Amino acid sequence: MRRLTVDLGERGYDIVIGRGLIGDVARHFECRGSKVLLVSDTNVAPLYADKVRSSIIGRGLEVKLVTVPAGEKSKCADTLLSLYSEALAFNMTRSDAIVALGGGVVGDLSGFAAATYMRGIDFIQIPTSLLAQVDSSVGGKVGIDLPEGKNLVGAFHQPRAVIIDPDTLDTLTDGFFADGMGEVIKYGCIVDAQLFDKLGAIGGRDGFSECAEEIIARCCDIKRDIVERDEKESGCRKLLNFGHTYGHALEKISGYSAYSHGQAVAIGMTYITRLSERDGYTEQGCANKIARLCTMYNLPTQCSAAGDEIVKAITADKKGTLGGVDAVFLKKIGDSFTRRVPFDYFNAEGGK
Ligand code: GLY
Repeated sequence: MRRLTVDLGERGYDIVIGRGLIGDVARHFECRGSKVLLVSDTNVAPLYADKVRSSIIGRGLEVKLVTVPAGEKSKCADTLLSLYSEALAFNMTRSDAIVALGGGVVGDLSGFAAATYMRGIDFIQIPTSLLAQVDSSVGGKVGIDLPEGKNLVGAFHQPRAVIIDPDTLDTLTDGFFADGMGEVIKYGCIVDAQLFDKLGAIGGRDGFSECAEEIIARCCDIKRDIVERDEKESGCRKLLNFGHTYGHALEKISGYSAYSHGQAVAIGMTYITRLSERDGYTEQGCANKIARLCTMYNLPTQCSAAGDEIVKAITADKKGTLGGVDAVFLKKIGDSFTRRVPFDYFNAEGGK
């Protein structure tokens, strides 16, 4: 088992990573009250909720399981209100806790419920998708979608603990596994050339499974370091958005159905690196290296989206600021920086 400590003073917490932890979660967090609202979804609850519930009951706490429909549609105001109702009906007080068992949707939704119920209660993440294990469960970004767009309402509310069992990845479909690999490859690109090379050397999902604990821990450690230095994303946390400006726009213009987040990020990372190689900001050959690695993990690296549609979506996105967007570029693999570019930078033939 590996343990990382996110040092954020009184908001600090541990991330524990180890095979089999799902059956022993209660040993890895404290609850100041007597009740736990365990939130999961219809895919994950049948697989792991019993184990998690038994572990928590074994610590003498009362548990109420709430299962929401699997999928992004649950990350909405109606489901959020239903969580408040469940918490109230369970007589939860400010010292009780919400435990999120599932992927990014469950984590973001229950985290936002925890951030706002009675002005904020404790929250524990048990992420079961690769995307949630390496990215969304760490760092405290929680929120819901609105009909007008994704993640438009949210908060920074750090969890009290993140408990990661890499064995839960065994039940992921290849599509969901690839979705998470977009973020894993991103970490290699922005800060860790050794991780990037290792992902290439292990060659795909089977090789990943053998060293899952080590790779997940490395990704969490990179995110830990960045979040400690810039909790609220006013500086270096922006580096985590490598490939995301183009990727979010692509997801948006294709109705959040044609591409998963990881697929869109893979296309975005390759696209912007081709542009910055053309402009002389990036060592030659990086875009091809990224494309090769993404392809190895079944992620696309190109799309036929119209450049002006992408630019329109980027201009409307919340990350856009007057006159342009802070985009993330690589000097080379493992070395990244941000640079303000005009919105129409993303409408260039060089990226195709
Ligand atoms: N997923 C990017 C961040 O947490 O900042």
